[in-house]
Amino acid sequence: MTIFPELPEMPAGFVWGAATAAYQIEGAVAEDGRGESIWDVFCRRPGAVAGAESGAVACDSYHRWRDDVELLAGLGVDAYRFSVAWPRVLPAGGGAINQPGLDHYDRLVDALCERGIRPFVTLYHWDLPQALEDRGGWRVRDTSERFADYAAVVAGRLGDRVRDWITLNEPYCSAIVGYAEGRHAPGATEGHGALAAAHHLLVGHGQAVAAIRAASPRARVGITLNLSPAVPAGDTEADRAAADRMDLLVNRQFTDPVLGGGYPAGLEQLFAGVSDLSFRRDGDLALIGTPLDFLGVNYYYRIHAADVPVEQRDPALRSASDIGVRPAPRDGVPTTDLGWPIEPWGLHDTLAELAGRYPALPPVYVTENGVAQVSDGHTEDLDRIHFIAGHLAAAARAAAETTVDLRGYFYWSLLDNFEWARGYAPRFGLVHVDYPTGTRTPRASYRWLSEQLSGRTRIGGTPAGVGRGEEGR
Ligand code: FCB
Repeated sequence: MTIFPELPEMPAGFVWGAATAAYQIEGAVAEDGRGESIWDVFCRRPGAVAGAESGAVACDSYHRWRDDVELLAGLGVDAYRFSVAWPRVLPAGGGAINQPGLDHYDRLVDALCERGIRPFVTLYHWDLPQALEDRGGWRVRDTSERFADYAAVVAGRLGDRVRDWITLNEPYCSAIVGYAEGRHAPGATEGHGALAAAHHLLVGHGQAVAAIRAASPRARVGITLNLSPAVPAGDTEADRAAADRMDLLVNRQFTDPVLGGGYPAGLEQLFAGVSDLSFRRDGDLALIGTPLDFLGVNYYYRIHAADVPVEQRDPALRSASDIGVRPAPRDGVPTTDLGWPIEPWGLHDTLAELAGRYPALPPVYVTENGVAQVSDGHTEDLDRIHFIAGHLAAAARAAAETTVDLRGYFYWSLLDNFEWARGYAPRFGLVHVDYPTGTRTPRASYRWLSEQLSGRTRIGGTPAGVGRGEEGR
């Protein structure tokens, strides 16, 4: 007999959700006037994506979105986090609005609200219009301004029903993985450019917060950051220093300024020789630190940081990610099929660290957490059930023991989908997708979660998209 874990008690009004992102699920990249994104172009670059795959078809959710809404309703979640594709709305990045692209999200939002599912809309989940990349992409400040214009357009159209907005998803990945490591679109390997990108993403975030609030005064606005506690791989001074550098690069480069504290001391030293940071302007920090309604946290794993001696580092410091740290495997720690250490308590530590570091921390949602298998047909996914339950137990403990005001958890992902440079092999879904046919098959984890969720009173969106449970908090 298999004993299934139970979901832990969560604070009143807790929002249960599932998440996806446009380029990973929609397909239909050339339909209804959509412009090209940096991912369309990057996927054509030889060797960029495993198996030369792309999001051209993906889960075909642009056509099958009704099926996806039914799956969400069957799952019994309160909320759905999805992203809007900027190049569908503004194919050239700015200028003319493409109404058919906006109509798609309008219909999706209506269908969600009809089912009582509260939309959490991410505005930027990595699919920059290629037209803007051609003009410098996130290296240039103009892109921040275009982002705020785009945010205003979407909030103007959907803001009567959507209340919860996420400006950016994981600016660390957009900037560092995209512009320094080159593993993600646009595939650049630069130092200065990547740091400028990180800054302009945050400036764009600050401008978008204001634009969304102006377009929709009832909006609740946040940002999603990928946070990973960095722990020293060995008990040495060098590894402790490496963990501190990793913490600065991955976490505090983003959390400190977004939560109003400006860039952390030590960051400039970290980047000395990579960039003169001349892209920073007066007034930027106030904009970036605009108080938020919530913080979104994506947690996947802890980083075990091992020092790389100076003489072995990239002498050109071409990559802003070369700060002399090597993620080290850890004996006795199980890993996912992607090699990511499975350490649920890392989610507790992430939340506890936020609460400890930032006295004015806004409410927090875990906006992503999930596990991938690489074998197709793995539908009796007991390992995923235990992964989710373990992480939720850790999150519940953080909510009980620290000052963190934890408001929700979104599993990544509702569906198997296009996992960026890794292509379609990693499968994160509660629902299996057969890519040749688009057929969706709920896994055991979906059935377990839906059973667990059906036991509680629904606190999800009303037709107006407002979470009843959270009202008045
Ligand atoms: C996160 C991304 C998301 C997905 C998961 C596995 O970094 O935000 O799109 O790819 O990783």
